[in-house]
Amino acid sequence: MTHDIVVVGSGISGATIAQRYAQVLNKKVLVIEKRNHIGGNCYDFYNDAGILVSKYGAHLFHTNDECVWKYVHAFSSWRPYVHTVLSSVDGILVPIPVNITTVNLLFNLHIQTETEMQQWLATQVITIDHPANSEESALSRVGKALYEKLFKNYTIKQWNTSPSLLSASILDRIPVRTNFDPRYFSDKYQAMPLFGYTKIFEKMLSHPNITIKLNTDYFHIKDSLKNFEKLFFTGPIDLYFQKKSAKKLSYRSLRFEFETFDFPYYQVNSVINYPNDYKFTRIVEFKHMYGQKHPKTTISKEYPTWDGDPYYPVLSKENLSLYGFYKTQAALESKKGVYFVGRLANYKYFNMDQAFANALNLFYQLNPHLDKTKGLDYNKIQSKA
Ligand code: FDA
Repeated sequence: MTHDIVVVGSGISGATIAQRYAQVLNKKVLVIEKRNHIGGNCYDFYNDAGILVSKYGAHLFHTNDECVWKYVHAFSSWRPYVHTVLSSVDGILVPIPVNITTVNLLFNLHIQTETEMQQWLATQVITIDHPANSEESALSRVGKALYEKLFKNYTIKQWNTSPSLLSASILDRIPVRTNFDPRYFSDKYQAMPLFGYTKIFEKMLSHPNITIKLNTDYFHIKDSLKNFEKLFFTGPIDLYFQKKSAKKLSYRSLRFEFETFDFPYYQVNSVINYPNDYKFTRIVEFKHMYGQKHPKTTISKEYPTWDGDPYYPVLSKENLSLYGFYKTQAALESKKGVYFVGRLANYKYFNMDQAFANALNLFYQLNPHLDKTKGLDYNKIQSKA
């Protein structure tokens, strides 16, 4: 097989690299994907009932990055959608992130202003100068009462361990609002693709220069790949270097349990968290976010697990030091034209916009003669694609 560019993985990272090399540089690109579909973890599809669902968990698009916002418009129209999350606590539903409404509902208070909320929070938080673990991070952000009602058990379910044993970084950015703002994300742009994410990937990869091989594990065919200029690897970095070290980076995963009902809506919001009851962490109802009208509805319950696809890197000292070793190896591979891009190759949780930005940045770094700002003009992309 001869191609100019080989891309392993067809998620955001792989599809962006493939699209750019095919369209901007007219390169012949081979995309290798071990799953039976493109789109990586953003993949969505119509289930047997005809409802659009995400196979790998809810995906809400949000960004402050103008380039990424421009780029994604080349491949889809977008529906404004401001995401909100509710948490089921003590039999009531309260907004997450914590805001004035959350506190009023949970503690039967009547806070009305930012100043009152700041004063209330000041009575709650525990001053810890350098939080040593996630429990201390949370206590210093929100105090004991909110921590125990909203975050403690959720984190235990999510990571299968006490927050006091987890790195401070996991809970050190719990957002707390001192106003009534109910939005989950505060980014400038928040939207959902009008026809789902998979359509975006179909369009990105539809360029005649791109060949896609599904159901193909790179490691099974790598010896047949010859004479390429560059290879971009978006899979798990530890697997790429498995001959150099048998040590594996660990990930937390999720098991999704889908259920379809013969009525239009199951719950009042797209996402409801269950920190203190049940084994699942949350229930997602897709119709709310995709805006689909349908007499039936599908939900997904999310059960954290150690088995399954790699989703959330476990940022322990051991894993970070092991990743440091792989990162050094990865830098050496670039001399052979092999580059590592995306969340699995960076052992880092990327939001979708960060994954787009990471791949676009690499493409423009490797091709500095190109002007990123002009190249991402979506009217131009659309007229060429
Ligand atoms: P991604 O994992 O998507 O793609 C990698 C691809 O490589 C996969 O298709 C895989 O099969 C393939 N591959 C791996 N090894 C291979 C091999 N050996 N041979 C061939 N192919 C191989 N972000 C956000 O902004 N808002 C949100 O709401 C969410 N929600 C969310 C929920 C859950 C449960 C998760 C896990 C993640 C999110 N995200 C998110 C993050 C989002 O999913 C993420 O940013 C992108 O999927 C990253 O795209 P990548 O291409 O880097 O990886």
